[in-house]
Amino acid sequence: MQNFDTIQEGKAIVKVAVGKISKELPVFYNPIMSLNRTISVLLLNTLSNTKMQLADPLAASGVRAIRFLKELPKNKISSIHINDYSKDAIKSIKENLRLNKISSSKFKLYSQDANIFLLESFGFDYIDIDPFGSPNPFLDSAIKRLARDGILAITATDTAPLSGTFPSTCMRKYWSLPQRNETMHENGLRILIRKVQLVASQYDKALTPIYSYSTEHYMRIFMHCEKGKKKVDKILKQHGNYNNAGPLWLGQLWDTTIAQKIASSAKKLSYINDQEKKFLNTIAQESKIDTVGFYNLPKICKKNKLTIIKQDELIKRIKSAGYKVALTHFTNNSIRSDIPLPELIKIIKN
Ligand SMILES: C[S@@+](CC[C@H](N)C(=O)[O-])C[C@H]1O[C@@H](n2cnc3c(N)ncnc32)[C@H](O)[C@@H]1O
Repeated sequence: MQNFDTIQEGKAIVKVAVGKISKELPVFYNPIMSLNRTISVLLLNTLSNTKMQLADPLAASGVRAIRFLKELPKNKISSIHINDYSKDAIKSIKENLRLNKISSSKFKLYSQDANIFLLESFGFDYIDIDPFGSPNPFLDSAIKRLARDGILAITATDTAPLSGTFPSTCMRKYWSLPQRNETMHENGLRILIRKVQLVASQYDKALTPIYSYSTEHYMRIFMHCEKGKKKVDKILKQHGNYNNAGPLWLGQLWDTTIAQKIASSAKKLSYINDQEKKFLNTIAQESKIDTVGFYNLPKICKKNKLTIIKQDELIKRIKSAGYKVALTHFTNNSIRSDIPLPELIKIIKN
């Protein structure tokens, strides 16, 4: 006998199955992903776009779409299309929409394979691909139906291949060699971005990351879509290798203004905790520094036989030498900076 619980996430109330978080739940709901959904709401709020057509092709309990309906300003959404091929999920979505008193005129509900749902549509301004594991099976149809100036949001929970645990799987699925080193999560995110860009390039669509991160068991990217051969060629020129991994995306991971807006709006939210606010603030700070990769201080100190100095002190010294510096959200004891390595070593030595 399956037990259910009614919980609040953001401004949504949802009835969810209780049990070990796995694909085996009758309807999937993972509370750890509440930050993932909150960031989607915050990101959509930073955009000036109004009257958007939104798609949630892998909706499960419907919590993400319900949060969009309850937390985004009314003029942001023209229509929201919610889909899941599981009959149990559709039952749960209907129940959750009722619980949140959302009128049936506000959404359209489908129960199809996500690719068919996408391909039979007229296209969307925002598509959120949030699957079990790899987003690969849905990339082609999502990109085909992504409108000009649209946003594609992608979650990947198959982080082991992307971050170098299974290199041959990564080569097969993401057409790139990962590495198991200190920048493995950033490399993995960049490998995923390149893969999505390559699929998009077939359709003359240029996808630029506007907000990306890696945390917990997943990677997440939001990409802005433009059309045109020249724009695509510009994207493809920014593929290359880094730290023995690649090919991967060597361009910006964030639009700085969007990253700042997300962090500052998050500060005002009562339902996200201090740790999450700090996480978003770290991303906002590192988004100001246009570098690929970061410096892992213990590794640099060990290799160069240096004594580690306090992070605050080091940051002060780098700034007074005229360089940009910030912590990175990817891992601890690491800094993102435009300082060249020999200069950094000199500063630590002094
Ligand atoms: C990880 S869950 C989605 C979680 C949800 N987006 C959220 O924020 O809570 C993946 C969902 O995709 C559905 N699904 C998996 N493959 C599908 C497919 N090919 N077509 C439609 N739905 C699919 C599953 O039934 C499951 O509910």
